[in-house]
Amino acid sequence: MAEYMLQTESVIKQYKQYDTVITAVNRASIKVEPGEFVAIIGTSGSGKSTFLHICAGLDSADAGRVLIRGEDITAMKPDELSRFRGMNMGFVFQRHNLIPQFTALENILIPTMMCNKSEMSYQETLRRLVDTLQLTERPHHLPSELSGGQQQRVAIARALINMPDILFADEPTGNLDRNNADEVLKLLLETKKVMGQTLIMVTHDLSIAEHADRIFRMDNGILSLERDYQGPRRKTNDYQ
Ligand SMILES: Nc1ncnc2c1ncn2[C@@H]1O[C@H](COP(=O)(O)OP(=O)(O)OP(=O)(O)O)[C@@H](O)[C@H]1O
Ligand SMILES: [Mg+2]
Repeated sequence: MAEYMLQTESVIKQYKQYDTVITAVNRASIKVEPGEFVAIIGTSGSGKSTFLHICAGLDSADAGRVLIRGEDITAMKPDELSRFRGMNMGFVFQRHNLIPQFTALENILIPTMMCNKSEMSYQETLRRLVDTLQLTERPHHLPSELSGGQQQRVAIARALINMPDILFADEPTGNLDRNNADEVLKLLLETKKVMGQTLIMVTHDLSIAEHADRIFRMDNGILSLERDYQGPRRKTNDYQ
């Protein structure tokens, strides 16, 4: 049986507010192969962030299963899940969520404190990330002293410092202007090329989504395939 990097089976998430029920995610199923870049598009409020958070084990589903490399994360106990997440997954949030009192470098290194990896094993990754994401200029600055694009690149480096097999990115370029968005995407895809991880990205931006191997659309909680593979697989290094 093929082992997918990510597989979800009929994931459902509902929010109850007074006497109304919102079905934020309605039986969402997806299978993603290792190394694939999948984009999820859809209008505001359609359930994209909720679904991404559930895929990454940051939120729980009401029904359905989420498997990462064949392991059912919906069945894991909280401490088992957080260890598994730290070892295997990275997440770039819709709002960057950097810790304001920590420098850029300290923010990047936060996930290493939760893993038992030796300093040696991440120093090389850190150097590569700082180079690839062009963060060499301001490593000791606080987030408030960085531009939006720089903050987002720090958030990406933080999500990748443990070399996760799968990176979830929720509108990583959403708050950036066109030039910065293109630059961050280019660097993200450059990093993906170097590190080879699977990438699941939520984006409003169709010009960004078109660089994905496949595009899915979330519509009122329902996930469907918008664009399948087109001919020979596009490689991320085609992006210039
Ligand atoms: N904690 C919550 N409590 C109640 N309702 C929620 C909660 N989080 C999300 N929702 C609702 O679930 C639906 C999906 O929200 P979600 O944030 O997943 O959408 P989205 O597609 O990411 O939107 P956007 O593009 O604006 O980020 C919305 O109707 C939202 O109001
Ligand atoms: Mg969202």
